[in-house]
Amino acid sequence: MNLNVRPLGNIGVEVLDVDLREPVGDDLKAALEALWLEYGVLAFRDQEMDVSHQIAFSSIFGELARHPLEVKLASDHPELFVLDTGSNPARDEVETSYWDGVPLIGRLPWHIDLHYTGRPNRGAVMRSVTAEEGGGNTGFCDLAMAYDALDAATQERIQGLEVTYVFEMQRSKWRFADLEGFEPGPKNPKKPSDVGFPDFPDSVYPVVVTHPVSGRKVLEVVEQFLDRFENAADFGLTGDEADALLQELLDHVRQPQFQYIHEWKPGDIVLWDNWRTAHCGTGTPIGTRRLLHRTTIVGDVALGRHLDA
Ligand SMILES: [Fe+2]
Repeated sequence: MNLNVRPLGNIGVEVLDVDLREPVGDDLKAALEALWLEYGVLAFRDQEMDVSHQIAFSSIFGELARHPLEVKLASDHPELFVLDTGSNPARDEVETSYWDGVPLIGRLPWHIDLHYTGRPNRGAVMRSVTAEEGGGNTGFCDLAMAYDALDAATQERIQGLEVTYVFEMQRSKWRFADLEGFEPGPKNPKKPSDVGFPDFPDSVYPVVVTHPVSGRKVLEVVEQFLDRFENAADFGLTGDEADALLQELLDHVRQPQFQYIHEWKPGDIVLWDNWRTAHCGTGTPIGTRRLLHRTTIVGDVALGRHLDA
């Protein structure tokens, strides 16, 4: 089966002429899986789905995960992760930080979901239920394309290096975070238990991960929680040299040619490959209503490991 698609931006495609409320037969499933694997990010517009449609659609890609941040799960559908801003000021305040003095709720830098577990989910489906204009975008970055775009000498140089991520709530402690204009909000969590998160040990990944399904090489470098090369000394790198190399890779990954920024409209669905792409949230202005429902597809392969394991 051939599906009609058109490019979303520099990465990803919009899939046209499908109604995701309908049961997905084998041919359509195979076609969607092939597109997901080829492009990493798929968007669908004007889908009048409800929660049960979303769960049924997401389940064709694999078992659904229950996210460790329990407080964000829908009580009647624990497989549903709810991103809700503009309906509960006290809850919004916890996620509000300041950027050049402007308060934004839920602004998040480039990250991979469940990265801190060593076993990121295979992918996720995000559905826009309510989305006021200007209510915050989600950016996607293709880390396989970023790897392919490295020069051969750099690809050779980084092969075998391992990169370590430290699970830490306070953005100011993320060693490679872009903190320009950033001020934490007074209610921002200091430790995981402040927001009902369990704690996690450091997680370590090959800096070049081989995608378990496509076999493509993925540059496993994202800003959130990024801390160090675990085995820099084995490669003869001093601490400063290792940091400079990580910064160079991060600057490379941040280039717009690897990105697509999704502006949410009601009825939008985005399916992404969490083994290949990173994403970010630009944050929601105070008083703006935005409700997104996410379903999370289990990662049945561990791409990384915990340091204490
Ligand atoms: Fe995320």
